Amino acid sequence: MAGATLLVLMVAEKPSIALSLSQALARSPARKRKGVSPSSPVYEYEGEMFGMPALFRVTATTGHIYSIDFSSEFNDWNKHGPEQLFSAETIRTYDPRARIPEHLRSEGQGCDLLVLWLDCDREGENICFEVMGEVLPQMREPRFDYPGAYRGNVFRAQFSSLAHGDLQSAFANLSVPDENQSLSVEARQEIDLRIGCAFSRLQTMYFRHHFGNQLGKKMVTYGPCQIPTLWFCVKRHVEIQNFVPAPYWLLTLTLRIDDASVDATCDDGAIWDAEEAKQRLNRARGSVNPEGTVAVTRVRGWSSSLSRPLPLNTVAMLKMGSDVLGLGPGDTLHLAERLYLKGVLSYPRTETDKYPENFDLQGTVQVLTAPHMPWAAEAAALARGFTHPRQDGTDAGDHPPITPVKAATQSQCEGEAGWMLYQEICRHYLATLSPDAVFRETDVCFQLGGLPFTAHSTRCTDRGWLTVGNRRADDDGPVDLNGRLRSGDEVQVGQVHLKARQTAPPQHLSESELLQLMDEHKIGTVSNVQHRLYVELDEATRRMRPSALGLALVHAYSLVDEGMVLPTVRSSIENACARIATGEESKTSTVQRSLRIFEKKFFNFARQISVVPQMLAVAHALAKGPGAAMASDAAAEALGMWERAVAKTAAVDLHELQSRGKDGGMLAEGSDQGTVEPVDLKELLVTTPAVERVQQVLEEIGFGPAAGPAKAAKGQAGPQGGAAAEPAAASGPPGGGQQGAGRGNQGRGGDCAGGDARGGKGGGGGGGGGKGSTGDRGAKGERGGRGGKGEGGRGGKVGKDSRAGTQDGGGSGQGAQWPQHHAGGPGGYGQGPWPGAPLPQGAAGHAGFHAYAGCGGYGPLQGGPPPGYGYGGYGGYGGYGYGGGGVHQ
Ligand SMILES: *[C@@H]1O[C@H](CO)[C@@H](O)[C@H](O)[C@H]1NC(C)=O
Ligand SMILES: *[C@@H]1O[C@H](CO)[C@@H](O)[C@H](O)[C@H]1NC(C)=O
Repeated sequence: MAGATLLVLMVAEKPSIALSLSQALARSPARKRKGVSPSSPVYEYEGEMFGMPALFRVTATTGHIYSIDFSSEFNDWNKHGPEQLFSAETIRTYDPRARIPEHLRSEGQGCDLLVLWLDCDREGENICFEVMGEVLPQMREPRFDYPGAYRGNVFRAQFSSLAHGDLQSAFANLSVPDENQSLSVEARQEIDLRIGCAFSRLQTMYFRHHFGNQLGKKMVTYGPCQIPTLWFCVKRHVEIQNFVPAPYWLLTLTLRIDDASVDATCDDGAIWDAEEAKQRLNRARGSVNPEGTVAVTRVRGWSSSLSRPLPLNTVAMLKMGSDVLGLGPGDTLHLAERLYLKGVLSYPRTETDKYPENFDLQGTVQVLTAPHMPWAAEAAALARGFTHPRQDGTDAGDHPPITPVKAATQSQCEGEAGWMLYQEICRHYLATLSPDAVFRETDVCFQLGGLPFTAHSTRCTDRGWLTVGNRRADDDGPVDLNGRLRSGDEVQVGQVHLKARQTAPPQHLSESELLQLMDEHKIGTVSNVQHRLYVELDEATRRMRPSALGLALVHAYSLVDEGMVLPTVRSSIENACARIATGEESKTSTVQRSLRIFEKKFFNFARQISVVPQMLAVAHALAKGPGAAMASDAAAEALGMWERAVAKTAAVDLHELQSRGKDGGMLAEGSDQGTVEPVDLKELLVTTPAVERVQQVLEEIGFGPAAGPAKAAKGQAGPQGGAAAEPAAASGPPGGGQQGAGRGNQGRGGDCAGGDARGGKGGGGGGGGGKGSTGDRGAKGERGGRGGKGEGGRGGKVGKDSRAGTQDGGGSGQGAQWPQHHAGGPGGYGQGPWPGAPLPQGAAGHAGFHAYAGCGGYGPLQGGPPPGYGYGGYGGYGGYGYGGGGVHQ
């Protein structure tokens, strides 16, 4: 053993984390050198491990190394129908430019030990195994016994922030990777890919074939997370539509107290009957004494409090971003991740809202006392003694709550939005250690004509956490009634009157409410809250209204199979995958069972698919207003179905649904029993009377004839890319579509029906850029994407997919501002304008961290036009590629 030097490879999830690690762990500055990958440098330093001298090599992946996709064979819509995607061969793809696998193999050569520093969540655990797959075969046989090692020579570091102290204690206490967590990620990736692609291709194929000329050739996606999320928005919309306002009256006694006019309301509350209201009014009026006064019968006082907030978890942070800062969840998470990488915040993905026992509460307060902090005075007071934080949150066993790690400046927070978020998080942290706010409540009671009346006031007596939390304390009542009156006092009556009121409908769901619902119903929260095709976001109120297409899809699925659309669909998949992580179930059986259930649903849906365009016709007609003619029998029939769907959605009880989700949801109901009864999908392309009826309804409401322009479009297209560009562009949907929870090179799962976005053989814009879409997609975009005029991929020049978009799809490559970030770049976002469509929200991504990535253009449909032109890039699916892999060099 004497004289031996261990060679230790340490792998982080981002190059910037590798840098932080080398800074935290090396005694003298580490040497930086290039490796095989142009995106990930290597830091080297000498140190010690297991009491032996060691040479440490620190490097990184750029998020996930691989993504799962179908082979090119199965991504060719001409060769294979969507029903085959349930069992089609899948492949792993990776970014050929970042060369991460080669990089890791090269760095792993001859190493004694591997230490995995991937982010500590399921995705990170999965990347651990991706890394091991490359590195283990290159390592030397263990020369020594390393206590506690996994497979003899692998360790896993557990850390929650990039603070040097945290990284050092993680290194001092290494554990092992967890394969079951990794498998649960693989299971979900596979389930989402197969289900998303199969359903999306089926309905898109059908739509384009029969209604493309009337409704356009856009991709109509089905995502097992996206659709249940949309369902919540539709459910609320239905409640609003169904709402019938009801009048009611409040009997009110207005008093003169200290020159102010104070209302005492009859304790009976709302009176729903006009006649009854009038009778009571007369009774009360008749009982006012000749002096015009009324006696106090009782005074009650008590104090109430407003609890300090729970420690901050991801959902609470996203809600705060939307409510307080007006930022969408994607932007908030992106900013928080940037701040984490800068060492400013702790890891921002966590479900835990309870500080762990050993959390350094005092130290974190101390950090926030820095004199330039706007709350320095409050922090200094807390540093002298703080209130014990609430204990009623849950420890989900993942990361501690989100907290500041250092006293940052605005420039360290990368601009205004990051600074605002940082400030809110600091204030929230200090608030969790501040006393509750206290209020004094007072009731003064009266009797008039046998009717009880109460006047109420609320005054804040101790603002507690509200001060540092920057929140208002809302008083109630024009005067503080406390101590002002006693039983028996006579008070001057101003008037006795009725206040006429009306019940009001709820408002459309806000982002924040939706996040809450998604959390309660256990469907992944940080993925795609909003699909621009399916809901419209009001930027001012951050409320979401389903679009005509969104309504039509949800109503159609509800009619065909509620299991396609209820949140229990998602929660059951999430639960099943969670059981893999905890070792209760195997990956194979979970995947097989889930796919079998969905394969049955798939054919059931195929049989009834004409419901979708029927609902779409109605949605468009209703959107046009009462003027839209829907006179035919076919239209009346469709309208009747629509009403049935609305009633079905309205009837769902959210509480009951939530408990169903807890019971295991759909996957636990034995619904994988019975045989799958296939449908010949070619039959769906036959123009049946049902199809004709829908075409006719669409024509009635002004969508033009079903046949004709198809030919014209084909005519314009040519084998030369350029000529194909225009029609392709015109038919592409706007991109920026679904934001998968992408991370890393390949997008991090999400339900981005990923593979479907590939193709592009026929043309269309190349892939949008950035993370979230795979290299392959880009490559395919390249092949045919020529002339797509960038409709699909106006991506960052640097993202590989964007590159495809830029070069071949002609995208304008907005990513140029971060050329140094190899793998990411501002995500491409397919511009794909079809006439009149709003431009998608842009990819404000930086450093490949954030990619509303586009995907490759769509290939031709079965039976569609020949290669040489296609449908225009569908920019779209992208990942919130948290991981994009870039780093400032
Ligand atoms: C090391 O990790 C184990 C398991 O995660 C934990 O129980 C223990 O307290 C840690 N020790 C130190 C010194 O952090
Ligand atoms: C992983 O899951 C399997 C069941 O699929 C189980 O037998 C095994 O014990 C689990 N491993 C761990 C470390 O929990």
